[in-house]
Amino acid sequence: MAQRPLTVIKGDGIGPDIVDAALSVLDAVGATFDIEEVAVGKAALDGGADDPLPDDALASIERTGLVLKGPVTTPSGGGYRSVNVAMRKHFDLYANVRPTISLPGTKSRYDDLDIITVRENKGGMYSGEGQTVSDDGQRAEALSVITREQCERILKFAFEMARARGRKKVTLAHKANIMKSTSGLFLEVGRELAEQYDDLEHEELIVDACAMKLVMEPKNFDVIVTTNLFGDILSDLCAGLIGGLGLAPGANIGDKCAMFEAVHGSAPDIAGQGIANPTSVILAAALMLDHIDQPERATQIREAVRAAIAEGDRTTPDLGGEGSTSSFTEAVISRLR
Ligand code: NAI
Ligand code: MG
Repeated sequence: MAQRPLTVIKGDGIGPDIVDAALSVLDAVGATFDIEEVAVGKAALDGGADDPLPDDALASIERTGLVLKGPVTTPSGGGYRSVNVAMRKHFDLYANVRPTISLPGTKSRYDDLDIITVRENKGGMYSGEGQTVSDDGQRAEALSVITREQCERILKFAFEMARARGRKKVTLAHKANIMKSTSGLFLEVGRELAEQYDDLEHEELIVDACAMKLVMEPKNFDVIVTTNLFGDILSDLCAGLIGGLGLAPGANIGDKCAMFEAVHGSAPDIAGQGIANPTSVILAAALMLDHIDQPERATQIREAVRAAIAEGDRTTPDLGGEGSTSSFTEAVISRLR
């Protein structure tokens, strides 16, 4: 039988190490793919491409519709545009789903959290539109744009996902008191749609208070749906609640394409040391298996990761262990054989 094609982007910094870890875990669980490896961002430029998002990478993703991706460095301030944002736009990956589930054995303050952040992935402050700095450098502008259609799509996605997964409550995080146009539209559409989902508890929180409540009473949260910038920040906060960014996977979902990655970035502070926690990308690979209807394999991976962390088996320093990326990956794989 022909294998399912998969585009792999190893990314920058810790990316190649943790993506290789995830690929060997997929292999161990018998999930094999026809892999097309492509480079984007700095890796592409270093390899001689003249665009950080080269045509061959776009063509591969167009073909496979499925991507496993390591973090890609984006220069701050000047330099080229974020290829992450560009790919989300190009492939219409409108929903960013970030589950954070407590793993016993980590240093986190809580041990029974299960929060899914659903982040609008294309619009708002991250639409990248109208970013200018005046010639004298004294004034900077950016445009925040969100359409009713974008609001409807992400809110519907969140409500449907919550219902399909038997979740109880959806919290809509907004800042409609200040950002009356953009956040106001998001809240308005959320209220309209919530009426069609009266089997789910509907909660509205202003985003700053939401951040505070997440830290103080995280067990009260179930599914959070929010706009792009707020979702970026709240999902990192949630990762912090369960023991750090090294544990948090994310899925970028569109109707024709889906891209699975870690929530975190390329971690330049620990790159090249072999100590990055690969759990985030391994769990992203499990989300990918769920997405392509291989839930048994996904569950096997999650259970192996859970057990290895709970038993402190060769875990990485971010979890207080003395292991490395490769030793922890071995610990996971040994539970799959
Ligand atoms: P970061 O997420 O790379 O790192 C933040 C902190 O978390 C660092 O102390 C890092 O060592 C730690 N950390 C992250 N992942 C870890 C792991 N797997 N194991 C152990 N510790 C881990 O954030 P930062 O430094 O702000 O961003 C670095 C670069 O990554 C930037 O260029 C940014 O644009 C890019 N980035 C890319 C993303 C993507 O490709 N989706 C997402 C977020 C950032
Ligand atoms: Mg982020």
